[in-house]
Amino acid sequence: MFSKFTTLVLTTLVATAACSPFPAAVLETNTLVPRQDKGTEYCSVDAGCTCTVRPSDCTAFYEVQAGDTCLAIGQKFNNFTLSQLYRWNPSMTLNCYLQAYVPICINTPWYTFTPPIQPPYGTHYTLSQDPVPIMPGIIDTCQEYEIVGPGERTDQLAAENGFNVTDFPKWNGNATTAWQDYWACVKA
Ligand SMILES: *[C@@H]1O[C@H](CO)[C@@H](O)[C@H](O)[C@H]1NC(C)=O
Ligand SMILES: *[C@@H]1O[C@H](CO)[C@@H](O)[C@H](O)[C@H]1NC(C)=O
Ligand SMILES: *[C@@H]1O[C@H](CO)[C@@H](O)[C@H](O)[C@H]1NC(C)=O
Repeated sequence: MFSKFTTLVLTTLVATAACSPFPAAVLETNTLVPRQDKGTEYCSVDAGCTCTVRPSDCTAFYEVQAGDTCLAIGQKFNNFTLSQLYRWNPSMTLNCYLQAYVPICINTPWYTFTPPIQPPYGTHYTLSQDPVPIMPGIIDTCQEYEIVGPGERTDQLAAENGFNVTDFPKWNGNATTAWQDYWACVKA
């Protein structure tokens, strides 16, 4: 039976209103600047109206669930890298800011996946390689990021990378521990 409620539930996409995909509250003060300043307004019952940016040639979407992380999404599909997920979705930040119940792009026709979804622990990336997710509050001037393995301590990272361990919190948003599966700043 047709009802007003049914109509509402089926309402998903709204036309391309120019909107800002980055609410002030989620903007970081460091390098995490919007990669595009115009987006598509997306409205749904669960998400309300929000602004998101996606490739025009996107062929597959995934609706983010509450509690999802980039790593969990990457592991669920196991067919794209987390850096690629970030490149497809300019509404995401390097911290992996994602809004629940909003679709993100997970494929384009030109993309070929080369496993794994994240490089091995200990790998270094520069910013241009799109390390995702980075620890929150990393300084603007970070030159190299390292992906943190299980049980990795800041003094080990300092010794291996030749920096003073007292610099770790200064470079990594005052964090006193290195977060497993995140990229930490190890050179600045
Ligand atoms: C990954 O898998 C999902 C689910 O099968 C699919 O919709 C999507 O197109 C795939 N993406 C890539 C990059 O292969
Ligand atoms: C590390 O930095 C602290 C604080 O700036 C300083 O007291 C200490 O001497 C430094 N250690 C080394 C090995 O340079
Ligand atoms: C780190 O702590 C200092 C001193 O409390 C504070 O000024 C600074 O804003 C903090 N930085 C971050 C990224 O939280």
